[in-house]
Amino acid sequence: MPSKKIALIFVCCMAAWLAACGDESVDRHPGQPVKNRQAVFNKMLQTKDGMGTVMREHEIYDGKIFLEQARELQRLSREPWPYFTPDSNYAPTRAKPLVWEKPAEFGEAQHDLGDATALLVKAAEADDLKAIRSAFKEVEIACRSCHNKFRNAIPLR
Ligand code: HEC
Repeated sequence: MPSKKIALIFVCCMAAWLAACGDESVDRHPGQPVKNRQAVFNKMLQTKDGMGTVMREHEIYDGKIFLEQARELQRLSREPWPYFTPDSNYAPTRAKPLVWEKPAEFGEAQHDLGDATALLVKAAEADDLKAIRSAFKEVEIACRSCHNKFRNAIPLR
């Protein structure tokens, strides 16, 4: 019966629509700043972890590959900040309100990461494993110290 079919299609459409609404992972804000910055941070983590396995000697050091990874991290580490727009403190962000309350300090923490990744690229260009190790530590410190200050353990709801 056609009317039954139409009713069925209607029910299915409603279900799909409701499922999309209830999905918190869908960022409905213009420009999707929270989703976009979290995506960049996750790429940063992946790239850093790639180098981390070499640093922990779980993978053999290859100067050419390492330099590419260091340059990729440097490129990525400039990307999240424009997504911290004034109106982007909404769920499911883990950014603390301090990001917006202390923009100068947040900027300094970004600079610290910029300096550390620049050191890492320089050391990788020189193929100097000792310098690489120390710069990599600086990078990890820069990630951690900003997180300690500006990132919550659990997302906003
Ligand atoms: C200047 C501060 C700062 C620095 C430096 C920083 N982060 Fe973050 N990071 C944040 C903030 C703030 C958030 C929370 C973003 C949000 O949820 O809106 C975050 C979130 C993340 C997340 C979670 C993303 C998600 O899906 O929720 C990862 C992973 C991450 N950062 C990795 C890194 C790595 C790796 C580094 C260093 C290479 C780094 N971050 C350096 C501030 C920083």
